[in-house]
Amino acid sequence: MTDAVDYAALRARARATWSAGDFAVVGTMLPIVSENLCEYVDLRAEEDVLDVATGSGNTAIAAARRFARVTGLDFVPALLERGRQRATAEGLDVTYVEGDAEELPFPDDSFDVVLSTFGVMFAPDQAKAAGELVRVLRPGGRIGLSVWVPDGVVGEMFRTFVKHVPPPPGVTPPVAWSGEAHLSTLFPGAKVELIRRRLRVVMPSVDFWSDYFRQHFGPTIKAFEAVGPQGAPALEADLKAFAHRNNLSGDGTLVLPQDYVDILIRP
Ligand SMILES: C[S@@+](CC[C@H](N)C(=O)[O-])C[C@H]1O[C@@H](n2cnc3c(N)ncnc32)[C@H](O)[C@@H]1O
Repeated sequence: MTDAVDYAALRARARATWSAGDFAVVGTMLPIVSENLCEYVDLRAEEDVLDVATGSGNTAIAAARRFARVTGLDFVPALLERGRQRATAEGLDVTYVEGDAEELPFPDDSFDVVLSTFGVMFAPDQAKAAGELVRVLRPGGRIGLSVWVPDGVVGEMFRTFVKHVPPPPGVTPPVAWSGEAHLSTLFPGAKVELIRRRLRVVMPSVDFWSDYFRQHFGPTIKAFEAVGPQGAPALEADLKAFAHRNNLSGDGTLVLPQDYVDILIRP
């Protein structure tokens, strides 16, 4: 029952999760995703663009490289500060705003394009977040999303977390955003197109990957906190086994294929 879900508590928990570690470090693997999404939505110069859950600004910056007028929103101030530094380093103009994807601090009909790469999918109240994307979009506008799929490596990684740290009841998994039937309930009447893609995460080794995510990636840090010292060895073993199982490198290094979909929505 959705009305049994305490969304305020989930939002607070999500903010604490993404504030842990430093997603700006992990985000250095993602600019290729942002560039592809800007191409997929056929972004044009001087469009007004909102990047929801921008993190350290990957997608906002990709849009600004195309001379769009860009706002990036996130609920972790430290990540927004990194976004500001990155935009300044490239001589790009991006406005960064602190806020929540479920309550966007913008009037109706503010943007031509609303983007989100592996961002809005993590909002606990999916219907509310989808409604906000549509509300701030101008008539005739486009929504572009990059979303992890359940049958890919990241879907499997989240299932590994869930096996060790069960989520509160009633919560829809974030990867549900990748399904066409689910999208038609989130965006009734919209025209939806999807394309499946693969991000290759290339690292020195499985051990390096494990240490890197435990140090920098909020969801991994929080999963290890939740299981405590007693549960940590089993969680670590499961995560490493999963990385070995999916490793495409054929040598001692790591090549992890992370499948996702780019989605174009015309409400
Ligand atoms: C996986 S990161 C992706 C960041 C960025 N879009 C990128 O591609 O590099 C997820 C981001 O979503 C943000 N986020 C998650 N839920 C949010 C919410 N409800 N409102 C605002 N930001 C949110 C987190 O703070 C984090 O920066």
